[in-house]
Order: sequence, then structure tokens, then C-alpha cells
Amino acid sequence: MRLLTAAVTSMALMFGATAATAAPIEIKFSHVVAENTPKGQMANKFAELVAERLPGKVEVKVFPSSQLFGDNKVLEAMLLGDVQMAAPSLSKFQKYTKQLQLFDLPFLFKDMAAVERFQQSEAGQKILSSVESKGLVGLGYLHNGLKQLSASDPLRVPADASGKKFRIMTSDVLQAQFEAVEAVPLKKPFSEVFTLLQTKAIDGQENTWSNIYSKKFFEVQPYITESNHGVLDYMVVSSAEFWNGLDDDIRVEVKKALDEAIAFGNQVAAEKAQSDKQAIIDSKRSEVLEISDAERAQWVSAMKPVWNQFSDEIGADLIEAAAQSNN
Ligand code: LMR
Repeated sequence: MRLLTAAVTSMALMFGATAATAAPIEIKFSHVVAENTPKGQMANKFAELVAERLPGKVEVKVFPSSQLFGDNKVLEAMLLGDVQMAAPSLSKFQKYTKQLQLFDLPFLFKDMAAVERFQQSEAGQKILSSVESKGLVGLGYLHNGLKQLSASDPLRVPADASGKKFRIMTSDVLQAQFEAVEAVPLKKPFSEVFTLLQTKAIDGQENTWSNIYSKKFFEVQPYITESNHGVLDYMVVSSAEFWNGLDDDIRVEVKKALDEAIAFGNQVAAEKAQSDKQAIIDSKRSEVLEISDAERAQWVSAMKPVWNQFSDEIGADLIEAAAQSNN
């Protein structure tokens, strides 16, 4: 009887162990934006494609709107193994690499086509691996779009921003950009922006049309200047420990699904840059200000000296290569 019990117990243990190894690999994908955004749509598409192609093997769980981690915590959490994938904006990698600061330089890219050309170039692709020494793997860029300035008062020329408080992402380049127009930049997490604006703790912020729309910033900001002064894009990342620990065949399939999801997200980004802007105009909650070439030139000449401030850290060659992508 004892023998039989022992046999049953060991069989149960064996089956238990088999069941445990057969459990799907879980990829928690954490992000801070709403689901109806380029990144939100990309992450959901990625989860869908993985569910279709790797059923029972890999499961992607998406956590939007800072539900799991806010933007300033997610990379630390990733290195601890608490989350497997994320796509923070390029402005949020300062602690991990100086090269991505390039993308924060004001008026560097004339449009998203130039951003795309640079990101796909050899120099652009090389930056993806600049986070490797910190234990992260850069899996690809994802677009959101060009940033606009929103505020409680109309901003037409740099002097209008003087003395005003603006929320920025955790980037020293963005800090310098606002200081260049004598404004007061405050580094705050994305999840706090709406309340800061609503309570008038700050005067303004910079963001893309899709973020301004999906997080309702336009409802608490009466003016949005169509400045297109900078880019807000993302890098999809994982930890080297998780990514390199995947079996080769699984990693290849997951990467394929991710590349397709990114292509889809980029399409969403291009569409939303138009449609979310239009939705804001139609809402009549916020006035969209177009600026003249002469007014724009004033912003450029006030902000562009920031390039020199950071050229040693970023690399003058890299700045030059990125600027060339405008041609
Ligand atoms: C922000 O913090 O403004 C953006 O990075 C949010 C996002 O991820 O698009």
C-alpha cells in the first residue's frame, strides 16, 4: 500500500512538473498611454498575433495607462524581471544611454519621413543596441509623431512661454529646450499630466496629437500651438535576460509578430496625427494656433542652441547624420 502511495505521489509530481513546464511563457507588456493610440494599438496587435501563432506557448498580457508601471519605473522593473516588454518614449532612456537624447533635440527632423529614414539607417539602427550594456535589448522603433505645445495662454512666439511652467518627460535635453525660452520645465510622469493641467499646477506641456486627444489634455488646455518642434517616438525593449533566454524558434516568431505589430502601429500613428488633431479642432474645447514662418523662425533660433549644449554627450557625428536625413 505504501509502495502504491509512493508510486502515485511520484507520478503526480511528474505530471505536475510536466504541466508546469508546458505553461505558456508570459510576456507582460506595460505602457502608459491609452489603448486608442499608436502604442496602445501596436501592443494589442502584438498580443493578438502572438495568441494566433504561438497558442499555448507564449501569452502577451498588455497593461495600458500606467496600470502596471509608470514611465519612470518600468525599465527598473524590467531589469528585475517584473515586466518583460515595454515601449517607453525615446526621451525616457537617459539613465541607460546618452545617444537616444538625439531624438529630443528641438527642430532636428522636418517631418516623420525624415525620422523614419534616420531610424532605418545604419546609424539609427546602431542606437538600438546602445542600451545593451545596461541589460536591455532594443527591439525596434515605433512612431508616435511630432510634438505640439499646449498651454493655458496662446503661445505664438518664445516670449509667450517665458516664466510659464511646462511638464516635460525625464530628459535633460527637454529641460534645456524649455530653459532656452525662459520657461520653467518640470519632469513629471505621464500619468500625472492631466491633473497637473486641470488644477493649473502647471501652465502647459508638449505632446503629440494622439496623446493630447486620448488623455483629454485638450479639455483642460485652451490653446495648442501647432509647433511640430520635436519628435515623440518609442523604443520597444525587453531585458537581455528574458529575451536571450527564449528558445531560438520562439524568439524568431515573437520578433516577427512584433515587427508586424510595429508596422501596424506606425500606420495608426500616421492616421492619428491627422484624425486626432481634427477631433480636437471639432471639439472646440481648445483652439489650435497656426504660427507664421517668421514666428516659427523665432522658436528655432531660441531653441536650436540646445544642439551644441549636448553635442559632446550625443556625438556630433550622430547629430549630423540625423540632420542629413531631412534632405
Ligand atoms: C509622455 O510621457 O508624454 C509620453 O512619453 C507618453 C507616451 O508614452 O507616449
